[in-house]
Amino acid sequence: MINLPKKSIRDVDVAGKRVLVRVDFNVPLDIERNVVDDTRIRGALPTIQYLLDQGARPVLMSHLGRPKGQVVESLRMAPVGKRLAELIDRPVLTLKECVGPRVKEAIESNPDKVILLENLRFYPGERENLADFSRQLAELADIYVNDAFGTSHRAHASTVGVTAYIPSVMGLLMEKELETLGTLIEEPERPFVVVLGGNKVSDKLGVIDSFLEIADTILTGGGMCFTLIKSMGLEIGHSVIEEDQISQVANAMKKARRKSVRVMVPLDFVVADRFDKNANFKVVPTEAIPPDWLGLDIGPATVERYCAVLNEAKTIFWNGPMGVFEWPAFENGTKSIAECIADASATTVVGGGDSDAALRQFGLEDRMDFVSTGGGAAMRLLEGKKLPAVEALADR
Ligand code: 3PG
Repeated sequence: MINLPKKSIRDVDVAGKRVLVRVDFNVPLDIERNVVDDTRIRGALPTIQYLLDQGARPVLMSHLGRPKGQVVESLRMAPVGKRLAELIDRPVLTLKECVGPRVKEAIESNPDKVILLENLRFYPGERENLADFSRQLAELADIYVNDAFGTSHRAHASTVGVTAYIPSVMGLLMEKELETLGTLIEEPERPFVVVLGGNKVSDKLGVIDSFLEIADTILTGGGMCFTLIKSMGLEIGHSVIEEDQISQVANAMKKARRKSVRVMVPLDFVVADRFDKNANFKVVPTEAIPPDWLGLDIGPATVERYCAVLNEAKTIFWNGPMGVFEWPAFENGTKSIAECIADASATTVVGGGDSDAALRQFGLEDRMDFVSTGGGAAMRLLEGKKLPAVEALADR
């Protein structure tokens, strides 16, 4: 594992202190406002538990959705607080505000409770990173801990502004994310195989460029691979394409040849006669996609070939599904590749929203070594870019 230059909660004395913890509890809620996926809440539990074990008093804060600086009743934190209380052996007090005298008073008079502030994005000062709002947040505590890796690409009051006022360190989830993803791009055990899928190649060009510096093989699938196939001069029928990305993709392929990185495209596809769950479908080789059909999953020959490569890997990173896994007729490619990754004798790291959803659908999330809680933040880090919320923390 790489050494991180930033201080963590283990480097400071938190005993008896009020600790303001930025978590990323931006979780999906159903129509009755129950938390439908608590992965991000669970992700913050080691930090919360550590603070409680050390005798600290955690004051948690998060955003939920994008309420644009005003109160939106359906985006209050109450259901999140309820779920958190079920997960920790401690009462949780969810407040209806983030700053001000009532919040200070609630923190002082409830030393035995974990405090959860209201949705930060109800305040315009949050997204605008205003000094006044940042300072008011900082006044609530003695130390600031950032455990919200999923929001670390945002320079907001609760992720950057607040660090100007009180000692600021990273939490255990933040530390784990930075260590795991940082190790991937700095010192992966080889062979290092990257599996990239998802719909848009434009979203992936940054990480492709970065992985071309470090990976041994990149396996492609999902909608994004059709732009690669088109750039090779093959026909793709009605499959999804980003015409304006063809020349960038062709450049990336040239770079791959120069760097001797193997970039593989599918050998075959499950194609459909329309974009519909109940469409007619069949398996065809990549060179024979019929003009009026579209590829919605990788085919069985591709699965076999890709799994052989994954079997040899010592490090695997996976981002993005291989097909429309939400529809049973087109789930097999994503499911099989996820199973091969789970079975491989390699360090396995998964990052990016849809891949986590696929893992959960197939019940495979516990069989991966690490599943990142950050979509945009993980991609930014893997592209080799700085994360403002991490940069703002105290150096070791
Ligand atoms: C996420 O879900 O990616 C993070 O919580 C950040 O949310 P945002 O894209 O609304 O800033």
